[in-house]
Amino acid sequence: MQKKIAVLPGDGIGKEIVAGTVQVMQTIAEQFNHQFEFEYGCIGGEAIDVDGNPLPEETVSLCKNSDAILLGAVGGPKWDNNPPALRPEAGLLAIRKKMGLFANLRPVQAIPSLADASTLKKEVIDGVDLMIVRELTGGIYFGTPRERRIENGKELVVDTLSYTNEEIERIIRKAFDLAMIRRKKVTSVDKANVLESSRVWREIANNVAKDYPEVELEHMLVDNAAMQLIRNPKQFDVIVTENMFGDILSDEASMLTGSLGMLASASLSADGPGLYEPVHGSAPDIAGQNKANPLATILSAAMMLKYSFNLIEEGNTIEEAVNQVLEQGYRTADIADGAKYVLTTTEMVEQVIRQIKEIAQNK
Ligand code: NAD
Ligand code: IPM
Ligand code: MN
Repeated sequence: MQKKIAVLPGDGIGKEIVAGTVQVMQTIAEQFNHQFEFEYGCIGGEAIDVDGNPLPEETVSLCKNSDAILLGAVGGPKWDNNPPALRPEAGLLAIRKKMGLFANLRPVQAIPSLADASTLKKEVIDGVDLMIVRELTGGIYFGTPRERRIENGKELVVDTLSYTNEEIERIIRKAFDLAMIRRKKVTSVDKANVLESSRVWREIANNVAKDYPEVELEHMLVDNAAMQLIRNPKQFDVIVTENMFGDILSDEASMLTGSLGMLASASLSADGPGLYEPVHGSAPDIAGQNKANPLATILSAAMMLKYSFNLIEEGNTIEEAVNQVLEQGYRTADIADGAKYVLTTTEMVEQVIRQIKEIAQNK
């Protein structure tokens, strides 16, 4: 199979984890006889420095002309005081919006060999397997007006949470479609006791549910959901929620796996190329130290192989290799509790590549 992949490393640890992930994908290409062509583009802080724009037009056309996009992370203290349009994060939000990437899938699976790395009890996380379906191109991230102004002599700041019914319906349908190939349960998370948008969200979820009689739908308020994720995460199969709730709940849920450095994601549109990126950010506190955990990005590449290219065996091979390397006791610093070997980013990548070769050659 021949595929073109747009690679946007971004800032901070983005560069380190993406470099390793491209090597992993090259190994998959060699072992399974595919041709992956990687073409690099600029986004975020680096793009601001080079181009004065967090999302240069060139990067957008590269993404539109590729079969899938691999992204590291954007942001860092250097740009934290920039005006809103010149922040690295604006580039990430813009690529999501421009490519119509409304469905952000964030799978959370407990990894038995990492039980010690989690701050939660083993019996709470053992067997967790849930999928957060986060709406990614609407809600308070994109609503207008967004401004600060003087009103009656006082400074007033406004952010707007808005959704159309179509935006709500398509993400809820996505969640139900996923539930159909999983354990057939959808938990729709909202704040319907306060927000009008949540009340409409709930109405639409109830309507969509009529088309999926086999799927159980439950509604849960977001504050309770935050607590339930820690109290009893095994009650969840698919969680569907609006943009900001999903952002917050997914970082929280990452601790069920042991580290934010383990959580992968896919951002999908109705028809165009998908974007694959770790859930975590550019981690300025450890950037440039060859210390970051590359597994979230490597697992995002596995999602790319499966979701965008339908290369199921290849995607599974990456996931198996990651699990086996962890079982063998290899760890990066963030998951090092109880570790036999604490590795750098590049060493962890080498281990995953070694294991992929071993799996592929024994098939
Ligand atoms: P962060 O996710 O970058 O880091 C949070 C904590 O987790 C840090 O202690 C960090 O060292 C650790 N961590 C994150 N990824 C890790 C990995 N792979 N291996 C080991 N440790 C890891 O969040 P933050 O510190 O709140 O934000 C830093 C910057 O990243 C900000 O500019 C923010 O806007 C940006 N950000 C970008 C994205 C993205 O590009 N998708 C996502 C989140 C945050
Ligand atoms: C994420 C990040 C982004 C978000 C930021 C960097 C804009 O936190 O991908 O989860 O909030 O969506
Ligand atoms: Mn986030």
